[in-house]
Amino acid sequence: KDPRIEGIAASIRVVPNFPKPGIMFQDITTLLLDPKAFKNTVDLFVERYTGKDISVVAGIEARGFIFGPPIALAIGAKFIPLRKPRKLPGEVISEEYVLEYGTDCLEMHVGAVKPGERALVVDDLVATGGTLCAAINLLERAGAEVVECACVIELPELKGRERLNGKPLYILVESR
Ligand code: PRP
Ligand code: MG
Repeated sequence: KDPRIEGIAASIRVVPNFPKPGIMFQDITTLLLDPKAFKNTVDLFVERYTGKDISVVAGIEARGFIFGPPIALAIGAKFIPLRKPRKLPGEVISEEYVLEYGTDCLEMHVGAVKPGERALVVDDLVATGGTLCAAINLLERAGAEVVECACVIELPELKGRERLNGKPLYILVESR
């Protein structure tokens, strides 16, 4: 295991009972306040994906917008924002996904990705995996090949990894 991971894990604040009772909230804002931890996080992903012929980094609103762009710039890929509904002005495709209560939706601009492009999906955290699954579906509907999903944190107890239709998931920190 890379020695940088310990410092990254230590920089993430866990807030009990936020946003509601029983939830242990994984707060990455404290990671962002630690420039060494933030740089090491981006560097670990960049080291993994450099030279892998990835032309697209897709980041998931909102926290995937923090980690996705520096990775895209460093590996020479374009960045595609996958947004919550009614934020994108152009023609979009949409994917609904199930939350604990109700549903949410991600949208992507038609034409942002060309068929056959190799894509990386980036977010801060995988819990149930519903969000990543919707992102994978959007990219695949547009004809892209999803090479891997990359998140800073995994909550392994929620088994989100099993919902990714066999796509590989790379994470830096496991939390419970
Ligand atoms: C959180 C987190 C992931 C998602 C993971 O985002 O940033 O995107 O939940 O959950 P899942 O694996 O169960 O789908 P959230 O939608 O709460 O909002 P934000 O990123 O806009 O803050
Ligand atoms: Mg999110």
